[in-house]
Amino acid sequence: MIHLDLVVGARPNFMKAAPVLAELRSRRPDWRIRLIHTGQHYDERMSDLFFSQLGVAEPDVNLGVGSGTHAVQTAQVMVALEEQFRAAPPNLVVVFGDVNSTLAGALVASKMQIPVAHVEAGLRSFDRSMPEEINRIITDTVADWLFTSEPSGETNLRSEGVPAERIRFVGNTMIDTLLKHRPTAEGLDMPARFGVSAGRYAVVTLHRPSNVDEPEALRGILAGLMEVAEVAPVLFPMHPRTRRRLEDRRVVELEAAAGITLMEPLGYLEFVGLMAAAGVVITDSGGIQEETTILGVPCVTMRANTERPVTLTAGTNVLAGTDPRRMVAEAIAALGEQRRSAARIPDLWDGRAASRIVDVLDEVFSRQGEPGTGC
Ligand code: UD1
Repeated sequence: MIHLDLVVGARPNFMKAAPVLAELRSRRPDWRIRLIHTGQHYDERMSDLFFSQLGVAEPDVNLGVGSGTHAVQTAQVMVALEEQFRAAPPNLVVVFGDVNSTLAGALVASKMQIPVAHVEAGLRSFDRSMPEEINRIITDTVADWLFTSEPSGETNLRSEGVPAERIRFVGNTMIDTLLKHRPTAEGLDMPARFGVSAGRYAVVTLHRPSNVDEPEALRGILAGLMEVAEVAPVLFPMHPRTRRRLEDRRVVELEAAAGITLMEPLGYLEFVGLMAAAGVVITDSGGIQEETTILGVPCVTMRANTERPVTLTAGTNVLAGTDPRRMVAEAIAALGEQRRSAARIPDLWDGRAASRIVDVLDEVFSRQGEPGTGC
């Protein structure tokens, strides 16, 4: 029997894996599919809630590794995964995105001669100070199957010497999830819950080490957000990393600032509902740049670069760099425009990326007959 292990670990992985898992389970009931959660994210609000809201069954295995330095976290996932793969060797390991669990899964599998498929391959920020960029490069170097989400993925992989036959442009599985759940999310009427009007508020997310681990950078961004809050309400669901970096005094000050609402991380549906009706989203996340493009909501990204350039060329994204003044100017301009952007939908962001991935896997295994020999 063909045996696939899907490895997930952190919040953005769950939305990317859910449609692939659903598609595999419905189309290939004869395959043994295991969902392995590394436990990189473990809070109810960072993990469990996503499984229930996305309709994903409990993971088959939870490795429970939790937080740590990059080396500790990655190494613990590797040790635990090696035991899993040794006890029940899969024919293919599927990893998603660019988090530490992605890298760990790809490394362990490739060293055990188990073929690896990478979903969201080929994205590059060309900024090696980002831990995710290192994860992306190494994962793609060892992967056998590279499923790309936008045209830049293939261009980057080809320039790194990856043979064309290993690359498949399938579209974006995170957008599969967004399109499926958007009506439910919008039905929650999130603006009413927070007493704000559609199109007249900002949503903020921040968690990149370069923004939140540097006190000076964080102070500048928070001061900028207070300026935006003078123009429109600012709703700020706070990632645990960011919350830990803020001194208590600063939290009290922010909470007291007129127009700023701090809150715990939201569930997926609540967050999508809030984004969909926002006047602007201010973020340093990768996935949110893509989601706002589909939702047609202006996005101001607090980074000097993006590994998702299609959100700039086709979508609603602008890069504000690390200068809070640019962020404030872009955000206030977007809030003033009060209209949905006429963004173009990137190619293959149509809700069928997972289906294309399963088409490829189906073809691979039927061609191989006896699986497990790589591609
Ligand atoms: C990770 C990913 C990042 C992704 C982000 C989404 C890497 C290198 N980074 O960053 O690409 O965009 O997830 O959230 O893999 N924490 C909790 N509860 C949790 C999880 C984390 O409190 O459930 C706290 C811990 O104190 C931890 C800190 O957040 O030390 C950072 O978590 P970690 O998984 O190391 O990285 P993220 O910043 O979440």
